[in-house]
Amino acid sequence: MIIAANLKTNLTRKETKSYIEELEVCASKTSQEVFVFPAITSLDSFEGSVTIGTQNAYPTQNGAYTGEIGLEQLEEFGIKTILIGHSERRHVLGETQEFIAQKFDYFKRQGFKIIYCVGEPKEIREAGHEKMLEYISTQYKGIDTEYENLIIAYEPVWAIGTGLTPTIDDIEKMHTALKAKSQAPLLYGGSVKVTNAKEVLKSKNVDGILVGSAALYVEHFCTMISYAQELESK
Ligand code: 13P
Repeated sequence: MIIAANLKTNLTRKETKSYIEELEVCASKTSQEVFVFPAITSLDSFEGSVTIGTQNAYPTQNGAYTGEIGLEQLEEFGIKTILIGHSERRHVLGETQEFIAQKFDYFKRQGFKIIYCVGEPKEIREAGHEKMLEYISTQYKGIDTEYENLIIAYEPVWAIGTGLTPTIDDIEKMHTALKAKSQAPLLYGGSVKVTNAKEVLKSKNVDGILVGSAALYVEHFCTMISYAQELESK
């Protein structure tokens, strides 16, 4: 399974280094595919079984894009994995679908592994399943759903950082609908924690999890990895 941690704007460079070192100890004992997305200033060349990705980058080799990083800065650390379309970039930082698709296309051409995030806000959720699907379909616009290095993450906006999660039935319903759009591995994200990770991982059409706040505790994240390992060896 795929177990990913999005550290967002948390942990210093020093803290991230010890986080990854500790994580390596538990992750290397499993056959799970483990990803960590640290803050950009904490990127470095880490060796081991954990794949380090970037939370963001501008679709450029280099150039005049104040405050952004490009391919050149990622290549320095051998980073070939990127998170694209995260709800915080869509809704807090104002990235449009057009720009997201451009970014997707650029990093696809560079052969990056892309974890592409989709998910509906609360008002769409309240409008029902059909509206949710309609909304999420717009987030597939300009995205190559057959890209071989694609992983999709379904992260309902209202479930991110709120402690709220859809029911397992709802997760399965949405994941089944999204699997019909793309055969890419499909992760669930949004308030996954030690207490619900096992149930989520067991769900139909869930190939892994993308964890935010609960992954900040390395021991919690390691527990989630061990759940995936247990489930797979059954
Ligand atoms: P939380 O796990 O804090 O809800 O965040 C999920 C997320 O946004 C991962 O990308």
